[in-house]
Order: sequence, then structure tokens, then C-alpha cells
Amino acid sequence: MKTVSFALIGDIHYPEHKLATSSVDIKDKGISSGIVSRIAPNKLKKVSDEITRQLTKNNSIRAVLLCGDLTSKGNIEGYRECLQYLRSVLNLSNKEFWQDKHLHVVPGNHDISRHSITAGTDIFKKFEGIRQAWLDIDRTEMQPDRVRVSDIEDPEKSKTRIFSVNSCVGCGEQRYLPESIRSELQALLESYSASSGADTAFDLVGEQLDTPVIDEEHISDISESIRELQKLSDIPVLLAHHGLLPQIIPRLQIYSELLNCGTVRFALTSLGRSIIYCHGHVHADPVEIISQPQHGPGKIIIISAPLLIDGFNVINLIFSEDGVALGCEVVPIRLEHGCIVEKDAIRIPLLTQRHIMPTKSILRDAFDATNSTAQRFKQISESLSSQGSDERLISNALLELEWMGLVEIDNRGEIPIHWQIRRIAP
Ligand SMILES: [Fe+2]
Repeated sequence: MKTVSFALIGDIHYPEHKLATSSVDIKDKGISSGIVSRIAPNKLKKVSDEITRQLTKNNSIRAVLLCGDLTSKGNIEGYRECLQYLRSVLNLSNKEFWQDKHLHVVPGNHDISRHSITAGTDIFKKFEGIRQAWLDIDRTEMQPDRVRVSDIEDPEKSKTRIFSVNSCVGCGEQRYLPESIRSELQALLESYSASSGADTAFDLVGEQLDTPVIDEEHISDISESIRELQKLSDIPVLLAHHGLLPQIIPRLQIYSELLNCGTVRFALTSLGRSIIYCHGHVHADPVEIISQPQHGPGKIIIISAPLLIDGFNVINLIFSEDGVALGCEVVPIRLEHGCIVEKDAIRIPLLTQRHIMPTKSILRDAFDATNSTAQRFKQISESLSSQGSDERLISNALLELEWMGLVEIDNRGEIPIHWQIRRIAP
């Protein structure tokens, strides 16, 4: 089995979160702040230390995906501060460290400088500040006006193709007053603003529209590039700031969802294959799957990252020895009560057809050696080793059969000698 992993890092909102600490139930208001600081760790530091640890120790991690919202309310100084923080956490200056890894980043709606938006000008101009901020730390990954693509390749076998796409193209744009009464309304608003002050006037009638949108040309570019992938087991991974479904908590806001998310869902499901779609924005971590049966067995696996101060996800793509994409595991790494906790992986099969009898002889033999009563790994391996298969081949075959929906393995996280295997297909 081969694993290609990447770290999915959600909204950072560095200016407001850089000093956030784990909660302490302080009943004594007179207690020394020095004592409080010793029992309430800085949340961002705790999570960042774990990211650095994972990147250093886990050789399977081949990419880091940043979902945007590095800053808040268009604060470009906060954005630049966040880049200095990321430079340290992700070891971004170390070219050797990044030689075999990929970094992807997209704009978030909070990263946009709304002051730089002028009607009728280049719609990508508002991203110039953040693009320059990345260039200033010698990184070219922020490319808001195009789809950026990189491939993680295992020669002649599997390929993971990562796309970063800007879903904030429409964010911050203006909404216009009705033309037939525009001048009258404008005079009324200017008069109110002059007497009450600009801030009060803005609170009353002001609008800052997010209008998230993915450029139609970018959707076409992605579809075309996915069609070029030759094998069904080549896995496309998309990174955007916004999701493709409304958030779980009702949001009462004009244009809060991706305006053309229906088009994106249609375009992606019509490709008839499994696609991973990663995003942030909702400050929560649902994993959702969309399929449109009229388009065949393809599905979009939508993975949301939580706020970074709450943790991040490691996503494992599991391939068989011969390069077949078997499954996707989402491993939530969370900060709970000041401690880093690795939660149980959420396992999603990637094979578009499950419960199909295997064709490879080792898989057929391993399946034949199982039955509906749980057996220890040793029992199965003894019956197969006489046919010349070693333990590694047998354990890989059983793991593959599990992704195919044919067997179930208890204690999978342990070494195979502790496994209990049960056939679940007839
Ligand atoms: Fe956010």
C-alpha cells in the first residue's frame, strides 16, 4: 500500500487569534496573570507546533493546503504578519525541505482589500496586495487570476493532481442603487451621512457583499485538466476557500454561498470520477459527499477544515501497490482543552464500484481464506503462506479487500498479528 498525504489548514484569522489561549474557568479575579498564563497555553502555538512536528516526522505528507482567511477584514498588515508566522511554522525558507512538497494557497474573503475595489476596473486588482505579500517572502504560490496545478506523481502508477482555485472573485464588489431613483437616494444618504457620520450611515444602510464566485473559465480549465488524467485512479484534489454546500448553521446574509456552486457541482460530478474538494470559510469541519447518479458513479468528497486555532486535518490517499486509488482517510487533529488529540480517521472509499469480486490472484486467495466468522490474521496467513505469499502481501491484500467493501478488519491500527478479519460480502 502507498499513502500520499497532505495537511489541510483552515482559516487562520491571525490578527484576532495570535494571542488566543485555551479557556480557563477563572472564579478568582485576583489571581496572578502569571499563573493563568502557565495553565492556559496559546492555542495557535500548540496547533502550529503539531503542524511542524507532522511535517518533519510524517514522510507521507507531500503537500500543505491553506484555505485562505489568513487575516481579517482586509487587514494587509495582519496578512503579512501571518506570512511571517507561516514562514516559521512551515519552514518556508528552506528550499531543500520543500523540494518534494507542494504548497497551495487561495484567497479568503477576509483577505481582500475592499478599499482597492473600483467599479469597472480589473476584478483581480483587489488581490494584488496579498499576491505581492507572498512574492515578498519569495513564494509564488498565490496566483488569484488563474488555476494553479501541481502533480504528485508515482511514476507509471498513481497521480494526485492538486488545483487551487480562487472562489473569492466576486467578493467585496458593490451593489448598485436602482438607476431610476439613484440620484434622489444618493442625495438622501449623503445628507444623512453628513449629519450622523459615515460610520452610523454605513451601519444603517451600508453593504459589504461577499458574492463568492468561481470564474467560469477556471471551472472549464479544471474540468479539462481532470479529463486529461488518464487513469480513474489518478485523484484530483481541489482547494478553494468556499464550500459547495450551505453551511450547517443557518446564515442570514445576502449572497453568503458560492453563487455558482450548482454549476461547479454539475461540472465536477459530470466527470464521472472521485474528486476531493477541500475548503475552509465555515469555521467548522463537516465531511460531505455529493453524487449525481445520472452522471454515473463519480462523487465529490467535500472536506472542510476548522479554524486553525481548533486544529487541522491530515488527509491520506491510499493506493494499492499497483497504483489503484482505494480510499481517502480524513484524520482530524484537534486542540481540545489545551491538548492535541488525533481523532479516529473518517474513511471514504474511492473506488467507484465496490463489492466487485477481485481479479488479482492474491486478492481472490485472501478473500477465499476469509469467512463470516471473525478469524485472526495468523489463521488466514498460515493458510495462504503455503501458496508462497508473505505476510506483507497478505496484509496488504486484506486492507485492499476492506476498501473494496468485502471484508472488515478489527484493530486495523495495530500490527496485523492483532487483526480480526471477517468477510462481509457473500
Ligand atoms: Fe473565515
